[in-house]
Amino acid sequence: MEPGFPLFPEQASTMAARVDHLYFFITAVCAFFAVLVTVLVTYFAIKYRRRKSDEHGEPIHGSLALELAWTGIPFVLAMVMFVWGSSVYFALARVPDEAMDVYAVGKQWMWKFQHREGPREINELHVPLNMPVRVLITSEDVLHSLYFPGFRTKMDAVPGRYTQLWFTATKPGTYHIFCAEYCGARHSAMIGRVVVMPQQDFQAWVGGGGTEGTLAQAGEKLFTDLACVTCHRAGAGQRGPVLNGLLGSTVQLASGATVTADVGYIRESILNPQAKVVAGFPPIMPTFQGQVNEEQLLALTEYIRSLPRTPAGSAPSSAAPGAPAGGNAPTPGPTTP
Ligand code: CUA
Repeated sequence: MEPGFPLFPEQASTMAARVDHLYFFITAVCAFFAVLVTVLVTYFAIKYRRRKSDEHGEPIHGSLALELAWTGIPFVLAMVMFVWGSSVYFALARVPDEAMDVYAVGKQWMWKFQHREGPREINELHVPLNMPVRVLITSEDVLHSLYFPGFRTKMDAVPGRYTQLWFTATKPGTYHIFCAEYCGARHSAMIGRVVVMPQQDFQAWVGGGGTEGTLAQAGEKLFTDLACVTCHRAGAGQRGPVLNGLLGSTVQLASGATVTADVGYIRESILNPQAKVVAGFPPIMPTFQGQVNEEQLLALTEYIRSLPRTPAGSAPSSAAPGAPAGGNAPTPGPTTP
């Protein structure tokens, strides 16, 4: 939309113009036919009104050309909307590989954001300019929906699972955050703001977040406090799988199935360990349901992600053939939840 058009929020992301163009195309097509049909119905109702009480219309015999036209034209228009809409949808659904991650947790009635570097925010989110940002979203209680109107992107927050959205902000400034799913009495107050900062300013902001430490460090402390470390370690006394390199890897389950270890798998394995037991290990892990909240689950996940690919103490030279050891193996981000 042109700047200053009062009905629309400012276009502040790489996807905003694409979403708007599609929206205006569909609106224009619908408006054109709505007006056309209304005008014709009104015009014909007057032109062909009954003038005498014994008047009868001509019999209608049909017209192949007319049938083809009113089948073909809507079909073509619908297909244009479908193909265009699909391409925008896929662009919104595919997160760029280089995207940085931020976590969002919805609860009645606030948005809590967590940066990997440590800072936590409530109803406010700071993001860098011109850098793809992926937001991994969940909810503590009921359905919410995280909506960035300026970025033209929105995703439901679903209790018990992770969803995601991404955006690349293109203009510094402050923009709305809304909850777009009715979630209770104060749904309308579940609002916030997203602050887009130049990258240097953002780095200074996110790095100067005080002494809380990173999310992974918080997770490491939890890993010890919850005694996860007593079983999930290599060597004597090992009772659970070692978690190095887990995120993004393929896990062989006792049931014979395999699963890709994404953030949703890790969450489930902490809260419902019996759901997917790893092959070669007894199903002895207790559930941590009720003992860890959503933010602590994120911290634990970040800790697992931060572990070196190869467990400390195991010699890289003795690694099994085919298992790349040590070095600069890239840390995979969480795969699509
Ligand atoms: Cu949360 Cu509406």
